[in-house]
Amino acid sequence: SGPRPRLTVIGTGYLGATHAVCMAELGFEVLAVDVDHSKIERLSAGEIPFFEPDLADLLRANLATGRLRFTTSFEEIAEFGDVHFVCVGTPQRPDGYGADLSHLNAAIERLAPLLTRPCLVVGKSTVPAGTAAGIARTLARLAPANAGADADIVSDLAGVQLAWNPEFLREGFAVADTLHPDRLVFGVASPAAEGALRAAFAPVIAQGVPVIVTDYATAELVKTAANSFLATKISFINAMAEVCEAVDADVLTLAEALSHDVRIGGNFLRPGVGFGGGCLPKDIRAFQARADELGVGVALRFLREIDEINNRRRDRVVDLVAAALDGTLARRRLLVLGAAFKPNSDDVRDSPALAVADLLARTGADVTVVDPVATPNARRALPGVTYSETVEDVAADADAVVLLTEWRQFAELDPARLGQLVRRKLIIDARHALDGDRWRQAGWVYLAPGRPTGVIPSPVPEQRPRFGLPAATGPDGAAARDA
Ligand code: UDX
Repeated sequence: SGPRPRLTVIGTGYLGATHAVCMAELGFEVLAVDVDHSKIERLSAGEIPFFEPDLADLLRANLATGRLRFTTSFEEIAEFGDVHFVCVGTPQRPDGYGADLSHLNAAIERLAPLLTRPCLVVGKSTVPAGTAAGIARTLARLAPANAGADADIVSDLAGVQLAWNPEFLREGFAVADTLHPDRLVFGVASPAAEGALRAAFAPVIAQGVPVIVTDYATAELVKTAANSFLATKISFINAMAEVCEAVDADVLTLAEALSHDVRIGGNFLRPGVGFGGGCLPKDIRAFQARADELGVGVALRFLREIDEINNRRRDRVVDLVAAALDGTLARRRLLVLGAAFKPNSDDVRDSPALAVADLLARTGADVTVVDPVATPNARRALPGVTYSETVEDVAADADAVVLLTEWRQFAELDPARLGQLVRRKLIIDARHALDGDRWRQAGWVYLAPGRPTGVIPSPVPEQRPRFGLPAATGPDGAAARDA
């Protein structure tokens, strides 16, 4: 293997910061750039601007070695880099349909004119299929190193070339997923580009990680297809939860039984309040928008259904809380456990937990949200409710506790102790995170969507089934539903 390429990372958000730190950890010299000066200052000072386990320690260690540096100068990265990783965000467009590529286009247009020597530009952002081909044309047009060349350079890295390398990292596991990915996908247009990418991932490839080498469009599609499949699995089991509710069956047992079939598997089969976050929801919507543009919208029509099933879970939790409180939420004091879209994250983008908190508050409930990490972000996203970082401080006089994010801290709550603080021992475990028997033994009414409640709703045409639960006031009601 030849000398190690020098790497740059453009955009130091979630993906870019993680990628920069991990590539330095793998031994590369890395220079990362962002247009946001305050972000660069914080990162240079060893501070990660979001919550991600292990990342801050690795950042500080690699700053100390000098392998990792940050800058706001595109000139500097153009001068420095052999391989430039583009990691800017591609958020949902304000119309809710389709990806906003303005940050990506701006980054390419700023970088390209500065690229005066041969190098590889690698797109990592999640983009609609066909985007990479357009970026390759822009690079061919704007990069001085390509002056006079065609868009399709197929010899070696004589000029500036493009590759597409989608990223599959999960929040909360970003470091492990980046250092030890399941697979690497290289969308390339030349053997030289493949060679440069292999050099940039040599330590990862050496672990035996499978490398799939393909064209741009396939590489782009792998990412959206993977996220669509994951979303489909979650909505599938949540759809089963809806059916379970109609016959008083148990979706958790159903999911467990399904999971033993190796063709199905148990991952991403956890029912609950549905998926959220900065990827799955926006990616399935952008994928449909792109399929519509390509004239194959019909092939992805099912994703609309996946989205709708997902959103119905939020209403369902609200219905369940209301039914358990004798049909009314007005002025009820509700203790909501969780704001982040999932545990080990401070991300509240498209968070089902915050969406439910919002719905509960709009229905007139007095809502207090507890989250160990995400409260600052949640306060900005949903200012109208009360927040706390711990349960005990705010549990007094609660009429119901609603668990919406499965933080470990919540699973470890002591039902007996909490029972002494609340007004009414009623808990709705929307993520199936708690040991229901333990809570019932401590005198709580424990309810979980998709699990038997003891009451079969009569089907009402054209209407969501609304559970006519008996007044859930105490241990007796709990016992009745325990069977
Ligand atoms: C996801 C993909 O997993 C990742 O590969 C991609 O790069 C980005 O999007 P992330 O958004 O970090 O990652 O979270 P993930 O762990 O996948 O969970 C997504 C959502 O689905 C969360 O809201 C989670 O609570 C929910 N989920 C997940 C379920 O409701 N049930 C499950 O069984 C699994």
